[in-house]
Amino acid sequence: MRLTEDMQRVVREQALGFVATVRADGTPALSPKGTTSVWDDEHLVFLHIHSEGTMANLATNPHVEVNVVDPIRRKGYRFAGHAETLSQGARFEEVLGRFERERGTDRRAVKAAVLIEVTAAHEVISPAYDDRSSEAAIAQRFFAHHRRLYDAAFTAGGGSQEVAWRDGYEISTDRRRLDLDVVHGFLRGAYWSRGVPRDVVERAMEHSLCFGLYAPGGEQVGFARVVTDRAAIAYLADIFVLPVYRGRGLGVWLIETVLAHPDLQGLRRFELATDDAHALYARFGFAPFRQPERQLVIERVDDELYGQRA
Ligand SMILES: Cc1cc2nc3c(=O)[nH]c(=O)nc-3n(C[C@H](O)[C@H](O)[C@H](O)COP(=O)(O)O)c2cc1C
Repeated sequence: MRLTEDMQRVVREQALGFVATVRADGTPALSPKGTTSVWDDEHLVFLHIHSEGTMANLATNPHVEVNVVDPIRRKGYRFAGHAETLSQGARFEEVLGRFERERGTDRRAVKAAVLIEVTAAHEVISPAYDDRSSEAAIAQRFFAHHRRLYDAAFTAGGGSQEVAWRDGYEISTDRRRLDLDVVHGFLRGAYWSRGVPRDVVERAMEHSLCFGLYAPGGEQVGFARVVTDRAAIAYLADIFVLPVYRGRGLGVWLIETVLAHPDLQGLRRFELATDDAHALYARFGFAPFRQPERQLVIERVDDELYGQRA
């Protein structure tokens, strides 16, 4: 059969196929091949570099299935076909030449090429589309997911210690991901910072250790900010979970994650102020000042501070 333009595009873009063969005892074998490519309108090809199992299986049963999937668009193809192994001769040289030219493949690493005549192909689509989401919406969601994985693994300051995952929700200290609209939108209506101007929130965030809480789709749904010297003293401020996301333990998890942060260990004092959540914070060891008569503060009420600006 002929491979459609879209089939060829997905294979070219992804270059990673999961190749299924059948072992002599009838059990399935599946392994990834990052050399999966379009050979021509009717054939795919991959290189045998470290695929002894696949090659042994193909020697007795040339039936093969290859799945190539775009992990961002959540779509791909299942290709079924017959495999022909090339380990010498003009065709093998032609394959090696193309890989060398197009991908800089070192021919010394290649033990054989597997040419697959595609006999059937079916599109595979994720159930993420079942709710009629558009491709753009799905792509945006999974791009955010993969970007978070990448940031968590490779970006300085976004290391795994500072990131927590649960049920698709994420807490991250990566300040580039914070959504000022969400944070300011909530804080200007909060009882403790009513009318706070956007630039004040922005400046406060800039100089604090900030924790963003993100829904599985990547949008920010909660926040916490710690003002600290990262050695002796910390003050927990502006913590919230947006109302529609409450009731599923996210707030407690956010507090736990803040308290577990490596820069906030061994402190002499960890303070916060609350009107009504004493019982909640008591679970984490927050208690009224033992000697309140020793605590002094300069305090300004919001109206006095932000009254004219808000
Ligand atoms: C992302 C990825 C791409 C890979 N690409 C290839 C490849 O193109 N050719 C190959 O021979 N091995 C490749 N490998 C290694 C094989 O998948 C691996 O050695 C596997 O165990 C082989 O299984 P098999 O012996 O059953 O074929 C790749 C592995 C990964 C994780």
